[in-house]
Amino acid sequence: MGLKHINDLKPGMILDEKVRDINGRLLLKKDKVIQSSHIRIFKIWGVTEVNIQGNNGDKSPSKGPQNPEKLEKIEENTRNLFCHVDMEHPAIKEIFRISVEFRSKHNLDDNDKMIALAEVDNPAKGNGNNFLHKLRNKKITLPEIPSIVFELNEVIANPLSSAEDVAQVVQRSPSLTALLLKIVNSPFYGFPSKIDKISLAVTLIGTREISGLALGISLISLFNKIPKEILSMYSFLRHSLACGIISRILAAHKSIPQTEQLFVSGLLHDLGRLILYSYFPDESRNILSRARSSNMLLYRQETDYLGCNHTHLVKHLLQQWKLPMVLENNVFFHHSPQDAQQPLPATLVHLADIITNGLGIGTSGERFVPPLDNAAWENLELSPNCFDVVTKQATHQYFELESMLDM
Ligand SMILES: [Fe+2]
Ligand SMILES: [Fe+2]
Repeated sequence: MGLKHINDLKPGMILDEKVRDINGRLLLKKDKVIQSSHIRIFKIWGVTEVNIQGNNGDKSPSKGPQNPEKLEKIEENTRNLFCHVDMEHPAIKEIFRISVEFRSKHNLDDNDKMIALAEVDNPAKGNGNNFLHKLRNKKITLPEIPSIVFELNEVIANPLSSAEDVAQVVQRSPSLTALLLKIVNSPFYGFPSKIDKISLAVTLIGTREISGLALGISLISLFNKIPKEILSMYSFLRHSLACGIISRILAAHKSIPQTEQLFVSGLLHDLGRLILYSYFPDESRNILSRARSSNMLLYRQETDYLGCNHTHLVKHLLQQWKLPMVLENNVFFHHSPQDAQQPLPATLVHLADIITNGLGIGTSGERFVPPLDNAAWENLELSPNCFDVVTKQATHQYFELESMLDM
């Protein structure tokens, strides 16, 4: 079994999984022999890759097979990272299995690559809600939001916005333009021919979708000053990008339209932490150091130290910057999706975060796999059997997009 890119499909290959379009509509059943007409239909409906029987088509980089002792060690280390979750839960069992497999394949036997941090004398621990209070009262200065973010926001909010309106805003930033073109030309979309203009990308993908992507990328690029001794920015971005891609693919499995919103929500889900590390390094250092020595989940340690966690911090900013409500819903509730106004998309980001932490693709500072909101999981009505194909699709797309992290 293996994933094959749409451009590598040949008539006669046999499907190992159902093929659905990005909105979840069934295009071809499992075990069907692929004909040329099917390949054409897959391309029309934006299918980027399919699972083929008897062929390991996964092109993602691999360090090769492991010896049995090494495998055992990886399994044991991975189990330690799952110590805050219910290992008997069917979803967690499957995520654990996939995580061990992925970590073995990519030789990740420990995602805990953070530097040992010594606590610093400083800031007022145990100030309860003081930190959020200070933020609300603007006693803490945060970066000015660039005008491009406001303009993209206006384009998203205005139903009459045209492809040209979006292109005009985006093209003012050459780096944003280059990143967007990289995404639309990757297997994330899988268009058969090269897209070299933003206006064409907007026509093919949609005004709101491209604006949303541009907004997410602009926001995450704003905060790039994490002190190296706290956490590697690259590692943070890897975690964010993987979570965004997995959120989007899970959304496609649930037949949710506008999957870009889910990508952006996943990309930004831990933005609160990025702000914390960039602007409050002393507090961050103490929180990370305490979480390490106590083996506490990081978001609980944040609450213990600051009186609020990274989701509260980002909620405040998303409101202040008047960003789309859907972002607030999905980002604020990514650790407690059942409490969200729209639990379904928040649950997808929640699940994507759990899977990303399990796989160990980068880190936002958390060492452990965060607990699953069981009520949200039950309401999602998703079979854990889909995690295997979701992670294979996601990691394939991830490795193709990883180079955009040099932003
Ligand atoms: Fe988080
Ligand atoms: Fe996360």
